[in-house]
Amino acid sequence: MAYINEHFLKLKAGYLFPEIGRRVNEFTQANPDKAAGLIRCGIGDVTEALPEAVIEALHSAVDEMGNRETFRGYAPELGYDFLREAIAKHDYAARGMDISADEIIVSDGAKCDSANILDILGSQNRIAITDPVYPVYLDTNVMAGHTGPADDAGLFEGIIYLPCTDANAFVPAIPDEPADLIYLCYPNNPTGATATKAQLAAWVDYAKANGSIILYDAAYEAFIQDADMPHSIFEIEGARDCAIEFRSFSKNAGFTGTRCAFTVVPKGLTAKDAAGNDHPLHALWGRRVATKFNGTSYPIQRAAAAVYTEAGQAQVRALIDHYMGNAKILCEAAKAAGLEVFGGTNAPYIWVKTPNGAPSWDIFDKVLNEAAVVITPGAGFGTAGEGYFRISAFNSRANAEEVAKRIGAMAW
Ligand code: MLT
Repeated sequence: MAYINEHFLKLKAGYLFPEIGRRVNEFTQANPDKAAGLIRCGIGDVTEALPEAVIEALHSAVDEMGNRETFRGYAPELGYDFLREAIAKHDYAARGMDISADEIIVSDGAKCDSANILDILGSQNRIAITDPVYPVYLDTNVMAGHTGPADDAGLFEGIIYLPCTDANAFVPAIPDEPADLIYLCYPNNPTGATATKAQLAAWVDYAKANGSIILYDAAYEAFIQDADMPHSIFEIEGARDCAIEFRSFSKNAGFTGTRCAFTVVPKGLTAKDAAGNDHPLHALWGRRVATKFNGTSYPIQRAAAAVYTEAGQAQVRALIDHYMGNAKILCEAAKAAGLEVFGGTNAPYIWVKTPNGAPSWDIFDKVLNEAAVVITPGAGFGTAGEGYFRISAFNSRANAEEVAKRIGAMAW
């Protein structure tokens, strides 16, 4: 007899984006005439080609793999030094942060890392999660058995929910109970909000006072336009003692289909065993990665390193400018249509209040049917996401302009 992990049964049937895909398929089958004009602003998937510097690095690394003298087999488990050193220099030292190359562990995705980190963390941890939230943080805790069942509202027993609303500018208040693990993501997916240094400092103080760990997702840091917004939790004094950071090449350099990311685990960061002894998490994460992963491929790590060349940096900046130009067009169109709009200024996501408090899946269907545009319903990101929808700015300029036109033409 074989048994399943019954914790999976607690999850809602589908992950958000497959459910959107199902509804979109239904729509295109029922409306073949409109299918050709469908524009996707749902999942935050990049649309523009990889930067030229990345393509050149990929080509040359592939050539190396075709020559016995320069061929490479297994990559070093935690990543090639050339990439880890480039990350440490450009993403951390250049902004005054003290992160060494060997604290950076290269992977194939921030989604996988933010899910897999639970392997090294105890099941007795109390988990704090923002609401709305990138669904991966919550679903992976449910899968790991860290929660009870969901109630009728969809809230899982045992989770400390941190509501993010327009009243707190989508940055959660510090809870009045202790949490052991806190998931924070800024610039935020899905709300597009940013957290200031003072706001993050309050979380670092709370984490240090409670012996908790902040799991900080900074996948969208490259989209920050305001000079004084922090790009990393490690810009905050004391964060090395209480935080792990996830970063990705997906959204800045267009690697969603190419796959490269990294996680920063400071060497001094510890958590306790049941007897109260401290253990370094860097060693545990290294052990986990070495056991379950054989490394991101050499050509992909070379491609990621090319992001940090002078040409690569300029090309990435152009990509960010392109998507943030789209975000501006979409924000303005939604505002002109009389909608209440958040985000979109330091992040590629625009978070919009549904008109008259309409349910977000109703608005999803309305926008799909009337404008042939795919958005993401806020309810898919959690209970507090109800009453909102998300528009992704990842698109061509022509599509962003067309979506703006269609939003303007709709009867909201
Ligand atoms: C999103 O649309 O929320 C993101 O694309 C999901 C992801 O990065 O995995």
